[in-house]
Amino acid sequence: MLELLKTRRSIRKYKATKIEKEKVDLLMKAALLSPSSRSIRPWEFVIVTDEELIGNLAKSKEHGSLFLKEAPLAIVILGDETKSDVWIEDASIASIIIQLAAESIGLGSCWIQIRERRHNKDVTSEEFVRRVLNIPKNLRVEAIIAIGYPDEKKSFYDEKSLLHEKVYVNQYK
Ligand SMILES: Cc1cc2nc3c(=O)[nH]c(=O)nc-3n(C[C@H](O)[C@H](O)[C@H](O)COP(=O)(O)O)c2cc1C
Repeated sequence: MLELLKTRRSIRKYKATKIEKEKVDLLMKAALLSPSSRSIRPWEFVIVTDEELIGNLAKSKEHGSLFLKEAPLAIVILGDETKSDVWIEDASIASIIIQLAAESIGLGSCWIQIRERRHNKDVTSEEFVRRVLNIPKNLRVEAIIAIGYPDEKKSFYDEKSLLHEKVYVNQYK
């Protein structure tokens, strides 16, 4: 597990290679196995492989989402706020589990924040994504996870750079 965490980096450049169905299935099994508060499982997911839709989703934000247009796969993470008051935590856990599962099968990924972000001054990123994918109002959009075979190399994390000073034992200071 520690090795997986040290090697995982945000990957924003992808090969054009499509992601095999078995790998997409594995990612979705991992997502659906995510723990959630009171096991309510308020999340839902949209698997997007259509190039035109991915191109549209890449415009969700003015900054930080454009790289998505080269990705062969996007998984949109939704949460039903009418089912759980902690849907954000549940959706975030599912997101990182998808990212770690992707890393474990040789795929690169990057989180694209959608909630609390803007498409432009009039339209939120959530509203934009909702319109692109026909998502109903009760479902909030937490993030999009861009996924593909890595086409960039990044250095692994080194245990020497860990911020151990952020950890306290028994009492804060
Ligand atoms: C909650 C969250 C939101 C993020 N939003 C974006 C984003 O919108 N666009 C982007 O390119 N990267 C985004 N990232 C990726 C971070 O920039 C990245 O995880 C961080 O710089 C650490 O780099 P690493 O993932 O390679 O360890 C996000 C990561 C998290 C956890």
